[in-house]
Amino acid sequence: MMCTQHHTGPEPQHRTGPATNKDVGGKRKDAEERNKGREKTGVEVHQLPCVKNISKRFCQNPKCDVSVVAESSSGGEREQQQLPGRSSPDIFDDELLTDSFSVKISDSFDEELCQMEEGYYSKCDKNIVKLGEGSGVKSQDSELSFASTLDSQPLIGRFNNRIQQLTPTQPPGGVMSERERREAAVAAALEEAAKTRTSQEGFQLGPYFGLPSKVAQVIREHRGISDLYDWQEECINEGSKSRNLLICIPTSGGKTLVAEILMLRCLLLMKRDVIFILPYVALVQEKVRGLSPFGVELGFLVEEYAGSRGSFPPKTRRKKNVVYVATIEKASGLVNSLLELGRVEELGLVVVDEVHMLAETGGRGASLEDVLTKLRYGASRVQLVAMSATVGNLKELAIYLDARLYAGNFRPVQLTECVKVLDKIWEVNLGAHTEEELLQNERLCCFPYSNEQKKIDVDMVGGLVGEVIPDHSCLVFCPTRRNCETLAELICKVLPTQLKQVKNREKVSLYRALVEEGGGSVCPVLRKTLPYGVAYHHSGLLEGEKRLLEEGYLMGTLCCLCCTSTLAAGINLPARRVIIRSPYTGKDLVTKSRYKQMVGRAGRAGLDTSGESILILQHQDLLQFGSLFLSPVESCNSTLADDENRGLTSLLFSSVGLGIAVSLPQLKCVAASSLLALQASTLGVDIDTKVTEIVECLRRQGLMCIKPESDNHNSASSIKLKNEGKSHQQCCVECTATTCSLEELLSNDHVLTVSTLGKAAIKGNIDLKLAGRLYKDLCVARENLALNSHLHLLYLVTPYAVVSSVKIIPSIFSTAYLSLGEEEVKVAKLLGITEAIVVKLTLGHYSKKIGEDVLRRFYVALLLHHLWSGMGIWQASELFSVHRGLIQQTLTSAAAFASCIYHFCQELKELWAFRDLLANFTHQLSACCSAELLPLLDLPAVKNGRARMLYNAGYHSLRDIASAKPKDLLSSVAHLPHRTAVQIIDSAKMLLIERAETLQGEAEQMLLGLN
Ligand SMILES: Nc1ncnc2c1ncn2[C@@H]1O[C@H](COP(=O)(O)OP(=O)(O)OP(=O)(O)O)[C@@H](O)[C@H]1O
Ligand SMILES: [Mg+2]
Repeated sequence: MMCTQHHTGPEPQHRTGPATNKDVGGKRKDAEERNKGREKTGVEVHQLPCVKNISKRFCQNPKCDVSVVAESSSGGEREQQQLPGRSSPDIFDDELLTDSFSVKISDSFDEELCQMEEGYYSKCDKNIVKLGEGSGVKSQDSELSFASTLDSQPLIGRFNNRIQQLTPTQPPGGVMSERERREAAVAAALEEAAKTRTSQEGFQLGPYFGLPSKVAQVIREHRGISDLYDWQEECINEGSKSRNLLICIPTSGGKTLVAEILMLRCLLLMKRDVIFILPYVALVQEKVRGLSPFGVELGFLVEEYAGSRGSFPPKTRRKKNVVYVATIEKASGLVNSLLELGRVEELGLVVVDEVHMLAETGGRGASLEDVLTKLRYGASRVQLVAMSATVGNLKELAIYLDARLYAGNFRPVQLTECVKVLDKIWEVNLGAHTEEELLQNERLCCFPYSNEQKKIDVDMVGGLVGEVIPDHSCLVFCPTRRNCETLAELICKVLPTQLKQVKNREKVSLYRALVEEGGGSVCPVLRKTLPYGVAYHHSGLLEGEKRLLEEGYLMGTLCCLCCTSTLAAGINLPARRVIIRSPYTGKDLVTKSRYKQMVGRAGRAGLDTSGESILILQHQDLLQFGSLFLSPVESCNSTLADDENRGLTSLLFSSVGLGIAVSLPQLKCVAASSLLALQASTLGVDIDTKVTEIVECLRRQGLMCIKPESDNHNSASSIKLKNEGKSHQQCCVECTATTCSLEELLSNDHVLTVSTLGKAAIKGNIDLKLAGRLYKDLCVARENLALNSHLHLLYLVTPYAVVSSVKIIPSIFSTAYLSLGEEEVKVAKLLGITEAIVVKLTLGHYSKKIGEDVLRRFYVALLLHHLWSGMGIWQASELFSVHRGLIQQTLTSAAAFASCIYHFCQELKELWAFRDLLANFTHQLSACCSAELLPLLDLPAVKNGRARMLYNAGYHSLRDIASAKPKDLLSSVAHLPHRTAVQIIDSAKMLLIERAETLQGEAEQMLLGLN
């Protein structure tokens, strides 16, 4: 095996008792000691010759494990100056808290406190969390008991703030005496108490951050977490003040739990709804699954808004609050619908996980910025909690979100980053400022490879994997999908065959589940690698296959996954060792942010004591290597102006359509709330000019028009301008400084409106550029809609975006066309596609009679039609020569687009037929399988194969599943983790509860007003 100089990293930090401010300080001190230790040891820094020449870059050296920077966009620095050395004074300073409560106060105030205390302790389960401990306050008297609830009750925080706010004020007539000052403070605090108690009527206060103790119990049961990390407690306390938060802690640092506890506070205490935004459909489904047990036990609803799921506007719930778990696109639709109907007050919190997605190109980043900007402008009372492990320009983002910044380097498990060049592995000195200091602690890797193995595995990846498996797990990140598969095979060629004996039964069970998921087929590569506990994971896999492999990995049936870098985002699949096969993703050098996401997977909280990453470099990559480690993480830049201002246009247009901004000055205020505006000078954008240009352009296109106020329902005067208390007039005055002809035209008594088509585009979340085309296509189809087959509808819901990247293979087109039945041939004819055109295409010529786009769209529709008619995805994959995962994605996009068209048609009376036709079609299309499986496929953890197994075992409906026991499901379904079985049952219960609530609501509505 490998000859190594083993490094012994510091012990991981595990909390053993309740958090105290002292602890934090202690840990910080420990961390500093450790860092000092590292510096003192003066480890010899070995230099690779070519690294020396790389230009010097600035690099920050994280000196402590948790460094908290709490500051608001205004006044943060001032606060830090007032309390030097304290990272976030108003939350973490015990002295400040005890000071304000040891003030001599009148009896009535004392009584108030006692009453509240009693209310509090009567509900408090003292066995679970002893809040008094470690809070730095004595434990017998009432003052202590009250102070001990400080962390968990915003109420007390408000008292405290109120006293502090009022203390320095003076009466108009002169200087206050000490006594007067105290009395004024007490009177104000009492007033605040009265208000607070009224506003908190019905709240069930408890010991767990104000939540009932059952919450702690449910978290322990379903997440396996009893104690929070210190930083988590601090952050939750800060978030409990209803302030916006931007949390930046490394991967696996535990950000999710913070967001979830704040979410529970909002649902259970504030009785408001929550939107939880995640970047991918798979992540949304994982979250829905994970939150369902919480919803069932704590009495709130969890609704999935991804793909074709989720209704706009959301259903009004009279009894229960809801957490909408949504993709970025769906969140946009949700927020729009709530803003439009004036229901945004229902929302209390919006959580944005992976907020660095703001910088994602291709429209998603712009879509996220659109949602956040609208919330900032039109619903500034809704709390925002944004999280990321990797953002460069944190302060800028915090200003954009008007958020308190909570940043640190906390990792529960120590991570050692290494690079491998030829046969040497070097530890990366993360504190290095120059290339010369970067590499240290050289060790040699040599494996007992045969000559044959040496030839096939030049970089010794198999040997590196073999060092940790099967006792521990290993993730290998690869630059391409193809590479994932070849590397998985290659690794198995060098691993010892004895590995096949490990967890043999589980592997067979996993294989069975994969067979079921693939409709009888399993990828030949997986067939070879599974016996070794190795698999690949990329977007070419079916969703169901991905889930099974992820679960197999988490259960330990698989111990190595070769995957693309997308696996690094969000899904919690940690490993003892992470290997990065090459510093490229595709042809591009990996970004620092992506690199950090990948290495961050190393080290399992609670299981591993350390984690290690190894980046494999070729000699020629060394030049790049310096810049990767020495440069800071990339900034998160706005993409609103990308692609000819597509995002900004959509933001302005929808703001008018929804009635949240209806004049040019107001639109300028909306734009001024964006990240783009904040970065305008860096990105070289003149935001005001852009707004004017866009409005003019939309007017020219007939999508927007100007009307006298009296003609308009969305009159400016009827719209509340919520932008930082500025009035409409104020905005006008400010913005008219740069007048132009359009602005003159847009005087106060004129407002902007959008056309009906524009409204429909907003409703359907359809790109403005495509709305006209879609409308035309639907109008043409309406004349001759062919309904003897589903092909015509499938053609209409084939997304334009998918079509643009499709390349027709003429021979496949011809085979698919020739297999069509009579009714489908009629549809082709309606679209202008004849046999002659298909023959011409096979000969390599496009007919001028028909647009290439129509042909491409029809080609994709043919693929969808095969699936709709029952062809398995594997077969379709062979027939159309496309990866099975991509086929499934096409299906999902078509279902999502069908849902968009459905909402689009709701605004356009003339398209009523499509609205009615698409209502059910959308749902069926998203599953595209036998009708009997449809009810089971509503469950977020159940894909085709699992649905079939459940069905065959007698579970035919959600009710069947909801009344099952986990052990019953385990015996019916191959390779099902116990936790997933519990989640499936709870998801079924959740769906039933949600549907019952809907029906009850409808019934109550119907009977409203009757005696
Ligand atoms: N207080 C805690 N004690 C023990 N384990 C915890 C605690 N908080 C979180 N964890 C566990 O740590 C793991 C990582 O947590 P989480 O997914 O919240 O990290 P994250 O910061 O969101 O990471 P990422 O940036 O990768 O999304 C999870 O398995 C979670 O259950
Ligand atoms: Mg996370």
